[in-house]
Amino acid sequence: MSDQPAPYGGVPSASTDQPSSAPARKKVRIPHLREMKQRGEKWAMLTAYDMYTAATFDEAGIPVLLVGDSASNNVYGNETSLPVTVDELIPLTRAVARSAKHALVVADLPFGSYQASPEQAFHTAVRFMKEAGAHCVKLEGGAEMAPQIELLTRGGVPVMAHIGFTPQSEHNLGGYRIQGRGAGAEKLLADAKAVEAAGAFAVVMEMVPGDVAAEVTAELAIPTIGIGAGAGCDAQVLVWQDMLGLRTGRLPRFVKQYADLHGVMVEAARAYAADVAAGTFPGPEHTF
Ligand code: KIV
Repeated sequence: MSDQPAPYGGVPSASTDQPSSAPARKKVRIPHLREMKQRGEKWAMLTAYDMYTAATFDEAGIPVLLVGDSASNNVYGNETSLPVTVDELIPLTRAVARSAKHALVVADLPFGSYQASPEQAFHTAVRFMKEAGAHCVKLEGGAEMAPQIELLTRGGVPVMAHIGFTPQSEHNLGGYRIQGRGAGAEKLLADAKAVEAAGAFAVVMEMVPGDVAAEVTAELAIPTIGIGAGAGCDAQVLVWQDMLGLRTGRLPRFVKQYADLHGVMVEAARAYAADVAAGTFPGPEHTF
């Protein structure tokens, strides 16, 4: 037997384990999220699309990981979330579900995989749960998605809804626009109430005015998760490449960058290439 670690990684490292002195962390379950709302405890959700980000965010105590259809842009390099398919998202979801020990793993249903009928939504959601190990799914839409949410919930698939700006409908909505302004506030509240009544266990609100989001949050028993919806939501979500500064260029106003991963990676890659060019890597300590 070799005493070397696996040559290409693939096994979660010991650093993702709890130190034995730390209190054991429980798996996050859907009822915990509602209990946190009742206690007024705010929480953070992050996207994750692979093993290391899932294990790292899980170790950091992020309670909910979303395998977003934003993988379309952030993994597959598309301009929008529209092209990504179920078959492209399932392997990413499987990697995240295998690697997160505590977090609740949410699979985003991609465009075209649930809108046609509740039955289509159920078929797609079951694939994410059976083939990828997702704990629940997210879908975009308000009152018009109530039949889908009802069937999924009845069939054992917990649903996180997503209202306000819904990127899969960007062509209907006329581009990246704030939703729920003026008369739109009434529709937003009606959508939020409709998804709650249909059985959704939480609802994402994207790009809506902060005061409207706060009002919706106060009206619902289920947690609201904001992205560009102000501090009045029960939880917040960000795409990890935005939050950690891997994405460069102009960012949406709602993004806060907590690190400059792009800068760190460029510098490290340059240093590595310079060492190779100079013959200083590999050194004797890297050589068998
Ligand atoms: O796909 C995604 O990442 C999302 C979040 C930004 C809410 O839907």
